[in-house]
Amino acid sequence: MRVLVLGADGYLGWPTCMYFSRMGHEVIGADNYFRRNAALALDCEALIPTPNLLQRAKIWQQVIEKKIAIHIGDVTNHEFLLSLFRAYHPDVVIHYAEQPSAPYSMLDRDKAAFTIQNNLLSTLNIVYAVKEVSPDCHIIKLGTMGEYGTPNIDIEEGWIQIQHKGKKDTFLFPRQASSLYHTTKIQDTDLLWFYVRTWGLRVTDLMQGPVYGISTDDADMDERLIPNFHYDEIFGTVLNRFIVQAIIGYPLTVYGKGGQTRGYLNIKDTLQCVYLAATQPAKPGELRIFNQISESFSVNELAEKVKIVGKKLGYDVKITHLENPRNEKEEHYYNPKYTGLLKLGLQPQYLTDGVLEGMFGIVEKYKNNINRDAIFRGVKW
Ligand SMILES: NC(=O)c1ccc[n+]([C@@H]2O[C@H](COP(=O)([O-])OP(=O)(O)OC[C@H]3O[C@@H](n4cnc5c(N)ncnc54)[C@H](O)[C@@H]3O)[C@@H](O)[C@H]2O)c1
Repeated sequence: MRVLVLGADGYLGWPTCMYFSRMGHEVIGADNYFRRNAALALDCEALIPTPNLLQRAKIWQQVIEKKIAIHIGDVTNHEFLLSLFRAYHPDVVIHYAEQPSAPYSMLDRDKAAFTIQNNLLSTLNIVYAVKEVSPDCHIIKLGTMGEYGTPNIDIEEGWIQIQHKGKKDTFLFPRQASSLYHTTKIQDTDLLWFYVRTWGLRVTDLMQGPVYGISTDDADMDERLIPNFHYDEIFGTVLNRFIVQAIIGYPLTVYGKGGQTRGYLNIKDTLQCVYLAATQPAKPGELRIFNQISESFSVNELAEKVKIVGKKLGYDVKITHLENPRNEKEEHYYNPKYTGLLKLGLQPQYLTDGVLEGMFGIVEKYKNNINRDAIFRGVKW
């Protein structure tokens, strides 16, 4: 396959480029360095300095003798995106190129506006580029489990059948996000669904939970290939943050009661899921939705796991319950269905003590880079 990865410099984008390349596919990666620049502006850079995308592709070629073509540019610039489609005619486009942080989207009006513009325009441009240049190209879009929110009923995989006044129909599962960022993901799904119905596009929308981890088979070959790993309040995901906090003796920042429950997955599972979706594509005129998680935990359960493994490794791990800066339910029902990717062949990597120990081991090597001030600033909803 010829695979176009948009957002190729990101936490998930770069490992995805390497994974598809190693599996023998032609990979083209594009990014505008939004994430690097935003992290620099907010003084919350990744734990481990990573070479820029062009350099990473050169290192990859030295390591494995496979080429990844890199283009630096903005996906919201339609001419830039069209030029990529015209040059490569991809079989599949993997769309990671969005502003991915809930706290960033809640910082102020300008960042909210940027999030709406960046996320919706990038999706719209991809739809148009596919329609105009490669109508058979399969779009794989990263959505989020946060689109569903925390309803008091079971969460289905994308769709729900509703019976009303004696008649039945199938609709997108009701969505009610708890941040502006997550709301743009709902709007992305609506955009895609409209164009799937109207133009017969083939789309897979992956409702992904928070990802953790730093190690992938490819990144492990050379530490310069490691994904960008954030532990700050703006760009870090909760488990990655807790590991860093544990290592420097910063009490684990549980928000409120800590009963917030979500589905999580290892970065290695993200790679498997996206690969399975690409190699078994959606049909023309199909919006296929998978819930991309491997298991569920409450924040309290994650903190407890980190505390136990940290103690075993000799760290003095404490847990604190901060006043919750977010407007969210701290105790709620949560029962999502997630069988679609398992049926495609996903073999989940669960959160074992061994996985946590591996994360501790990598972060420990870079602990001198940790910026305590970036850990918690209390962005309010
Ligand atoms: N990491 C997670 O836990 C998680 C969970 C659910 C969903 N997601 C989604 O997965 C995708 C990737 O997330 P990530 O964690 O790798 O984020 P990331 O910020 O590390 O990667 C996104 C990349 O896209 C780039 N980008 C953003 N806007 C762009 C634009 N207009 N043009 C070109 N490049 C642009 C950024 O510079 C960045 O390198 C996002 O859409 C995110 O919403 C991530």
